Amino acid sequence: MNAELTPAPSPADLDAFWMPFTANRQFKANPRLLARAAGMHYWTADGREVLDGVSGLWCVNAGHGRREIAAAVARQLETMEYAPTFQMGHPLAFEVASRLAALAPPALDRVFFTNSGSESVDTALKIALAYHRARGNGQRIRFIGREKGYHGVGFGGMSVGGMVNNRKVFPASMLPGVDHLPHTLDIEHNAFSRGLPAWGAHLADALERLIALHDAATIAAVIVEPISGSAGVILPPVGYLRRLREICDRHDILLIFDEVITGFGRVGKAFAAQAFDVVPDLMTTAKGLTNGALPMGAVFSHRKIYDGLMQGPENAIELFHGYTYSAHPAACAAALATLDIYAKEGLLTRAATLAPAWEDAVHSLRGAPHVIDVRNYGLIGAVELEPRPGKPGARAFEVFLKCFERGVMVRQTGDVVAMSPPLIIEPAHMQRLIETLGGAIRDTP
Ligand SMILES: Cc1ncc(COP(=O)(O)O)c(C=O)c1O
Repeated sequence: MNAELTPAPSPADLDAFWMPFTANRQFKANPRLLARAAGMHYWTADGREVLDGVSGLWCVNAGHGRREIAAAVARQLETMEYAPTFQMGHPLAFEVASRLAALAPPALDRVFFTNSGSESVDTALKIALAYHRARGNGQRIRFIGREKGYHGVGFGGMSVGGMVNNRKVFPASMLPGVDHLPHTLDIEHNAFSRGLPAWGAHLADALERLIALHDAATIAAVIVEPISGSAGVILPPVGYLRRLREICDRHDILLIFDEVITGFGRVGKAFAAQAFDVVPDLMTTAKGLTNGALPMGAVFSHRKIYDGLMQGPENAIELFHGYTYSAHPAACAAALATLDIYAKEGLLTRAATLAPAWEDAVHSLRGAPHVIDVRNYGLIGAVELEPRPGKPGARAFEVFLKCFERGVMVRQTGDVVAMSPPLIIEPAHMQRLIETLGGAIRDTP
């Protein structure tokens, strides 16, 4: 581990870096700089220890500073830093794909590599269109997303996504023909549910209405996150996802699960599709695939979709899509080392073991000032705060800042404080995380 290294100095100039999804002016006036990391912790540039309550950004599932991953990447860079995967290949790419196929739900065993969650989503949408077209259904061009959904920032993902701030500046640039299901957050019926809320499976029936409105024969796919993360941890009511699956089946519409945050052990199985026992046709992933060490994403496709596209002359390219860095050798090395760690340490199922204690810990915040809901599943937790009048998000942002000052990193989105700690978390970390968050909530008017 690299815990002994001296902290990096702060940079003199913060102007040039245009930071993503950040209040740049506010940040640069009062920066929060992370300089190194090991295990469950970061250290700031000025040497303070910070407990990581969000796995970086929902990606460092096996904890920080994993030497096995660093060594595998270094070895690969020395052996062969890059090889194309257009009309060429390299062994690690096939090995990672096979390893992933073995982890996937039944028949989702064809894997297309990308470099991010956003690219995975756009890839899955394109595969869905191409599949229908190859079957003579080129009129199936519509997608159904969901309100409050987050599917990255590409034009496709933005269009099927349902977070207003991500969309409102770009109204003329949305994919045509996209509609949205209602979201499943209902604090009135479901506040303080432990695990999946009991109320709301019927919200899936809105899909039948959208299908009736647009005609099933025009719809290519429905895309949802099994658990919405970015919009503030929104859980599927019991039975909801199964109902979506049944409706899609009835109308020959593909179902895409965006598992960019739920994949790789976050919910107690390798994928939420397995935890909820509902198998989609396409599954988008990224983040935990390499433990956040290098950018990489993967789209898992049902065999029937791959087979459906293997048409035409044998020398013809079947899908005109791909990235220079699809299955980058160093990313493949990172993925293999990550999958080895997950297997050796049982991390893909550890969240299921920890979930009861985690649930109790997170729900102990019920009753703290301004807390209007607490939500949890696997190793995901969220606390929703009552917004300050006329200032949405301000209270939760202050809580986030207080936590950071007190040595704990959580994630704020709107009026929700979300947590998704590394899957190596121990009870003492849980306690510290929840106590610090509780203290910050109590100290925030
Ligand atoms: C469900 C989901 N899809 C897609 C993305 C986009 O991933 P990336 O930021 O790697 O493009 C995210 C990122 O948080 C996500 O949570």
